[in-house]
Amino acid sequence: MSQRVTDNVFRMFARTRLGILLIAGIALAVAIAYRADKRVNAQTKSVLDMETIPRTPERLARGKYLVEGLAQCSFCHSDIDFSKRPVEVVPGMRNGGADFGDLDMGPPTHLFTPNISPDPEYGSGKWKDADFVRALRQGIGHDGRTLYPLMPYQFFRQMSDEDLASVIVYERSLPPVHVERPKRILPEKILKMLQPLPPVAHVPEPDRTDRVAYGKYLVTVGHCSGCHTPVDEHGKPIPGMEFGGGLPLPGPWTGDPKKIVYVASLNLTPDPSGIPYFDEAMFIQTIRTGQLKGRELATIMPWSYFRNLTDDDLKAIFAYLRTLKPVQHLVDNTEPPTYCKVCRTKHGLGERN
Ligand code: HEC
Ligand code: HEC
Repeated sequence: MSQRVTDNVFRMFARTRLGILLIAGIALAVAIAYRADKRVNAQTKSVLDMETIPRTPERLARGKYLVEGLAQCSFCHSDIDFSKRPVEVVPGMRNGGADFGDLDMGPPTHLFTPNISPDPEYGSGKWKDADFVRALRQGIGHDGRTLYPLMPYQFFRQMSDEDLASVIVYERSLPPVHVERPKRILPEKILKMLQPLPPVAHVPEPDRTDRVAYGKYLVTVGHCSGCHTPVDEHGKPIPGMEFGGGLPLPGPWTGDPKKIVYVASLNLTPDPSGIPYFDEAMFIQTIRTGQLKGRELATIMPWSYFRNLTDDDLKAIFAYLRTLKPVQHLVDNTEPPTYCKVCRTKHGLGERN
């Protein structure tokens, strides 16, 4: 790919996520900020309070599993080659940041995922572990700025202390990437809306014996609802449409970097218009291969990352999806996009809702 094409690809990628997906995040983050945080328990000592989180082989392995799997940190924080299936990080660029382009909202904007590799000059080399904790739990950058909620901290703050510690230990073990990413450009109006979330003192380990509850934990860390719940014109998740699909996401998802296609997220609920026909084996196979009966799933759906999950974790995720409230909402990417009055955008089979 030439640099120019690469730039365009990332710009499209940016529009996708920024325009729709995480303006929703702003609304959500602000809503959470005003709510008392039930999880705060000042009495409990957490590994995250330590000056340096002890680097152990267990944390390193668990961190890799999360970063290169469910939490997909390197999917957003690296230059990605979308011509590959599964997608791959451009060699040497892991967690060196990426250009997410203009947000396409009128006044000039430009967002980058920061270089979080341990490069002392351009990355996180001089940051403390606590800087990562604040970014992931409260949406506060190392320089004190409130992060734009495209960074899914409203979901990551619900990660257990131990999982978060593992993510940080792994992130900080990676080779440095010596690439400078410019500062973000956001209009005053947006900057004023950004608000950090309150601190979280302690999040216990999830109960792995309760499959549905554990599946819910995994679905939260994987921020599935960030893409699979449609939003209104103010970017707020549409009430009653949780996991109902329909967000349109443009990008080079066919593998040809010059061909930009639109795909909508799909309805994951057990409603007849969702995925009632999925069983556990079919779900695992779809995630592992990125295809379903010959139909290829677009690479914006992070199956390239979720395919690294264990069978047990995928089964727990599926068990939880089965318990979702059915949402009646037809979405089909093999049909031409038409207007949908339910989610107020265009997607395949939209006119039938
Ligand atoms: C959907 C894309 C996305 C994912 C997934 C994501 N991030 Fe981010 N992250 C961002 C963006 C965008 C920013 C910058 C926001 C800004 O500058 O306003 C950011 C900022 C950060 C920062 C703050 C850096 C600084 O300048 O202080 C850290 C640390 C970070 N991310 C770590 C992570 C880790 C660890 C994970 C995985 C657990 C992760 N991110 C997953 C998009 C993402
Ligand atoms: C970055 C956005 C994004 C995230 C995050 C995301 N998805 Fe998706 N997902 C999509 C899109 C877009 C599609 C449709 C792909 C297509 O039709 O080519 C999709 C399709 C799917 C499908 C296929 C359904 C079918 O009928 O073919 C399943 C299953 C699925 N997602 C599950 C999940 C789960 C579980 C999570 C969280 C662990 C998740 N997704 C997170 C965007 C996302």
